[in-house]
Amino acid sequence: MFMKIILIGYMGSGKSTVGKPLSEKLNYPYKDLDTEIEHREGKPIASIFAEKGEIYFRKKEAIVLQEILSEKSNMVLATGGGTPCYGTVMDDLNKAENVITVYLKASVEELTARLFPEKETRPLIAHLKAEEDLKDFVRKHLFERAHVYNKADFVIHTDGLHTSKITEKLISHL
Ligand code: S3P
Repeated sequence: MFMKIILIGYMGSGKSTVGKPLSEKLNYPYKDLDTEIEHREGKPIASIFAEKGEIYFRKKEAIVLQEILSEKSNMVLATGGGTPCYGTVMDDLNKAENVITVYLKASVEELTARLFPEKETRPLIAHLKAEEDLKDFVRKHLFERAHVYNKADFVIHTDGLHTSKITEKLISHL
């Protein structure tokens, strides 16, 4: 019997930050979907978007996710913010056996504060110059995506919580 814990949530929600220590605590291998895509493509996400476009990225994202899901082994997987929001990905994840989906839920304010200093690495928000513009974007975009994220098996509210506390909460749900 194996188990895959799939972390979903908006950009900046802490999927990678929580995923690594969680995998160490559980002694499960850790994978980051964006990193897996970057390795296969041999370039950073921003370059994939710039050179091949978002549609290409979304197709690749779905293929690499399927590959990872087909591995019959324990895993903590941090997805990209958009991963569950395209096609039938979220429903497929919920139907899959041995998969637990966890939504790391953060407020628009926290997401904006975390994303603003590192927005250049994220092609969807790199063009937003002022923090207020980023906040408006995040508010609308999160509204569009939230109904998908909320289909997760568990929702963990992360505002104001330290990574260790989020990890502890998450483990208590398993
Ligand atoms: C995206 C989120 C990013 C990355 C890509 C698109 C999105 O991952 O997959 O830039 O659509 O929300 P993070 O959530 O790890 O930033």
